[in-house]
Amino acid sequence: MTRKILYSMPGQAALSESLLSLTDWQAGDMILRQFPDGESYLRVLDDVQGRDVAILCQLHQPDSRVLPLLLLADTLRDLGAQRVGLVAPYLAYMRQDKRFNQGEGISSHYFARLISQHMDWLLTVDPHLHRIHQLDEVYSIPARSLTAVQPIADWIRQHVPKPLVIGPDSESEQWAARVADAAACPWEVLQKQRFGDRDVDVSLPHVENYLDRTPILVDDIISTGKTMIQAARHLINAGMTNPVCIAVHGIFAQGALADMQNNGLRVVTSNSIADDSNQIDLAPLLSDALMLFPD
Ligand code: R5P
Repeated sequence: MTRKILYSMPGQAALSESLLSLTDWQAGDMILRQFPDGESYLRVLDDVQGRDVAILCQLHQPDSRVLPLLLLADTLRDLGAQRVGLVAPYLAYMRQDKRFNQGEGISSHYFARLISQHMDWLLTVDPHLHRIHQLDEVYSIPARSLTAVQPIADWIRQHVPKPLVIGPDSESEQWAARVADAAACPWEVLQKQRFGDRDVDVSLPHVENYLDRTPILVDDIISTGKTMIQAARHLINAGMTNPVCIAVHGIFAQGALADMQNNGLRVVTSNSIADDSNQIDLAPLLSDALMLFPD
């Protein structure tokens, strides 16, 4: 049987090695470097004629990563690859999913169109689905979205004795409920009550029942870290201990991880984006899916 080939874009060597060891995919060999003027040079060193290939690519800070990705996809197709898939554990450009202000573009839609034009399929983990409910509303290729709920719950069960899962805002309720269910522990969502333009009270319902528990804030993304830092302050003011902050995707813009750690927070993320805070391994989840998808 012809084995499938997985090409890894720079920065995700550990995840790539795990995926190769857990699946029947073979490692693709290529040269990717920058010309002195900043353009990308690419050379594929395998015979990909008629082969199924995939590209593993982390897509945080996507603007500099996407062009080499698309160039590689087009090169592979040009060299005769049968299908070219994208494994993007973190899927970028999911948050600008509507025109918030006049004159803005809806970049989620445009990005999905761009990727769909160059790839034959997409595999990702917990994309930020808010106003877009399913990836196939915007992606025209087979697009499968996995969830890190179970690996997060497993981490909680192994590391935190009496957890209380907390969603930092109403949007995170979907995470909190499912993670808590899988970890067999209680959950709550911080409630915002607005009394005026600048007068907002944030509270944890039933806090008196939970003072002996370790609070665990769970969200899909940490970007600036402000959502987590503010939520943590409310919990500490309510008498709880310092929370553990868990996110599927640690984007950590503008030194956010250091900010959070300086605020006394323990930060735990999955390896969808390689980082020192990675403690939740997505390789088993992705490799199971890669054995079956997209066939
Ligand atoms: C919001 O829609 C997301 O679920 C996260 O809550 C948000 O992206 C976190 O952003 P930040 O870390 O910048 O507060």
